[in-house]
Amino acid sequence: MDNVLRGKNIIIGISGGIAAYKTPQLVRLLKKSGAFIRVVLTESATRFVSELALATVSEERVYRSLFPPADTTGTDYTRHISLGEWADAFVIAPATANTLARLSAGLCDDMLTALFLTLRPGKPVMIFPSMDGQMFLSPSVQRNIAILSGQGCRLITPESGELASGLIGVGRMPEPESIVSSLEKALQSTVPSSPLCGKSVVVTAGPTREKIDGVRFISNYSSGKMGFAIARAASERGALVTLITGPVYLETPSGVKRLDVETAMEMHDAAKSCFKSCNIFIGAAAVSDYRPATSFEGKMKKEKPEIELTLIKNPDILAEFGMQKAPGQLAVGFALETHAGLDNARNKLSAKNLDLIALNFFDRNTSGFEVDTNILTLIDNEGLTTELPQLPKDDAADKLLDLIEQLYVKTRQ
Ligand SMILES: Cc1cc2nc3c(=O)[nH]c(=O)nc-3n(C[C@H](O)[C@H](O)[C@H](O)COP(=O)(O)O)c2cc1C
Repeated sequence: MDNVLRGKNIIIGISGGIAAYKTPQLVRLLKKSGAFIRVVLTESATRFVSELALATVSEERVYRSLFPPADTTGTDYTRHISLGEWADAFVIAPATANTLARLSAGLCDDMLTALFLTLRPGKPVMIFPSMDGQMFLSPSVQRNIAILSGQGCRLITPESGELASGLIGVGRMPEPESIVSSLEKALQSTVPSSPLCGKSVVVTAGPTREKIDGVRFISNYSSGKMGFAIARAASERGALVTLITGPVYLETPSGVKRLDVETAMEMHDAAKSCFKSCNIFIGAAAVSDYRPATSFEGKMKKEKPEIELTLIKNPDILAEFGMQKAPGQLAVGFALETHAGLDNARNKLSAKNLDLIALNFFDRNTSGFEVDTNILTLIDNEGLTTELPQLPKDDAADKLLDLIEQLYVKTRQ
């Protein structure tokens, strides 16, 4: 690998986690690669690593407060802006839960957070969350991570292993060598080399609503998080993504074309119009299997002691695509199961003529609807089975897309 770090201007942002003690070594390694380094710390970070050590290894003064010392001159008053212009990349390691919250909220009451806002678009921002495993998987931290990755930051999943508390779990900051290699990859911009670059990817997400009358509907608990994570990950790989979504409360990932629908029939119509032109169709939506045979105008009155609701089957969008797909097109589905998962998923894979299916066992706390994590088992059309651990949905989406890339290359050979 060419030395992409030589001559690059890198800012290392350090927040107050225990892993901050590893950062002087990170700075040393980057300096050795020929990069120019400036260090920015939070107030809490100084409890875990000495500013003197960081200034010595970086051979530069380090920055903490937004407000300059009394002997400041010239542009030093607005260092948060000039540093943002100077930087080719911003690495935040370790990123505490607190710093993730402040960054995602857009606060800027110290140098690190202000700098984050002044960084020029297109510069890689790599964030290495590091904390106790339970903290990392908490809904608040996962929400902040999703916001930041939706803004284009690269959030690197912490490693699993022994944590500062002595507990075993996900939350360890990668070793400095591994951070350096992630940064090298980011600076080489892996996106254009993805086989998905420039390809049309259609993702369905969220639930559908099947109207009973003007104010009531049948639906399910799908939040759309998994489908949105897939759309984001595909777009980051350079794909031209169309996201067809049922009613959800999520922000559209950047660069993604979004089509909002409500019912299964509307999703069917929107999806059908993309069947011919798309290269990859990923059905992550929880489409209602049935809809009321008739929907009443206005609100049904509570008059009769009993009423009957006749349900009719909705079209199976994914199976329809699977059956019609041309050679070279890829169909990917999801199977949410509560029992006999592997058998059911394999049956769906072949019955719908899919190339890949992601099985998730429904578990209220860790996998399936609404939660921020998933435990997926990926099964391809040759029977190859890959079991993934419990992962944030963004990371599960990346693993899924790694496999889709491989399959896509294979189908076109
Ligand atoms: C011994 C000790 C270790 C800590 N380690 C972490 C950690 O690894 N990750 C984390 O998110 N917070 C950790 N904290 C909590 C943060 O230091 C605290 O939330 C602080 O306000 C973070 O401030 P900052 O984000 O501005 O740096 C730790 C606290 C203590 C006392």
